[in-house]
Amino acid sequence: MKLGVVSVGGPGALLILERAKKYFDEVELVNIKKLSTKVDSGKEVLYEGKPLKGFDCLYFKGSFRYELLQYTASHLLAGTVYLPLHASVFPTCHNKLLTLLRLQREGVAVPETYFCSNAEEARNVLQMVKYPIILKTPAGTQGKGVMVADSVESAKTLLDALETFGQAFIIQEYIDTGGTDIRAYVVGNKVVASMQRKAGKEEVRANIHQGGKGLAFELDYDTEQLAIKAAKAIKADVCGVDILQGVRPVVLEINATPGVEGISAATGKDVPDIVARYLYERTVEFRKEEKRDNVQNIMDDLNVQKVDSKEILANLDIKMGRIRLPEVVTRITNFRDGEEVSLFIDKQEIAIKKNKAGR
Ligand SMILES: Nc1ncnc2c1ncn2[C@@H]1O[C@H](COP(=O)(O)OP(=O)(O)O)[C@@H](O)[C@H]1O
Ligand SMILES: [Mg+2]
Repeated sequence: MKLGVVSVGGPGALLILERAKKYFDEVELVNIKKLSTKVDSGKEVLYEGKPLKGFDCLYFKGSFRYELLQYTASHLLAGTVYLPLHASVFPTCHNKLLTLLRLQREGVAVPETYFCSNAEEARNVLQMVKYPIILKTPAGTQGKGVMVADSVESAKTLLDALETFGQAFIIQEYIDTGGTDIRAYVVGNKVVASMQRKAGKEEVRANIHQGGKGLAFELDYDTEQLAIKAAKAIKADVCGVDILQGVRPVVLEINATPGVEGISAATGKDVPDIVARYLYERTVEFRKEEKRDNVQNIMDDLNVQKVDSKEILANLDIKMGRIRLPEVVTRITNFRDGEEVSLFIDKQEIAIKKNKAGR
């Protein structure tokens, strides 16, 4: 099995690749800058101009600068390799508003959020909301673009600034958490590590990039289920779910390429190892299912009656003393003409096995 981590080569991607050597036969950093895609009557993902081939799992872990490429390549690769992130994850998670819409649709609790197309309408919204409020841009990261206003007056001044910069903006209820937020690292059906981040002094944003500190934090059952449900809603097998725990927990945003170092340090868990192992297990499962599907498709194609997973009903075809097996046998086994095999023969039974060297 071969894993490719599609990335610019940041520390998280390298750590996961390093751990993955234990599980996969081969691992490779696929430089996202060297990817391109082709669409005509067919479809293709190219790497340095040649078809990208030989992988069983591709984990897209790049920066959001490559959002459209991540989306396109994942879209084209779907079904051919195991992709822990569905193509739609990239545009969705890159935009806080799209994330909230998706979460809301799947019944995941989110903060009360308004979105307006112009400042005039936003002024109307600002008149009716309770203060303090949060103003933010849909695509901000690391806490940049998040502003707090404690009155309609201060909100209006922020609005003027945003209007000058031509930015679209979100108005959101302020959730009082004492300046903390929760990062739940979801892998498959589990929260494998979680931490609480506390904002620095005189700061409402708990982002590590804004001086926030991360500490291990066990989630209660409901919050854990909320994080898992959120990850499922956006179709990510691996992601970081950010939660604000006010009167009730709500999901604030989802990070499709969560850092592994901070959370490992805070929790003492080897998160890159957990991710690498999970990717391997799912890849094995993916290939197994694919094989099963292929066999089923061949059977359906040839209209062959199947008795159980290994047994098919057929009448023997013997010509000039030679037994000719049905075509379905060649298609399922993938045996090639002239290939070296071992025959195991008994009075009532024949088995044909590929010789080990030829596998
Ligand atoms: N509605 C809110 N209520 C309270 N705090 C918030 C709210 N929105 C954001 N924050 C604080 O600001 C931080 C950054 O906001 P977030 O929406 O996650 O933007 P970013 O993508 O820049 O991290 C959060 O981690 C949280 O500490
Ligand atoms: Mg955030």
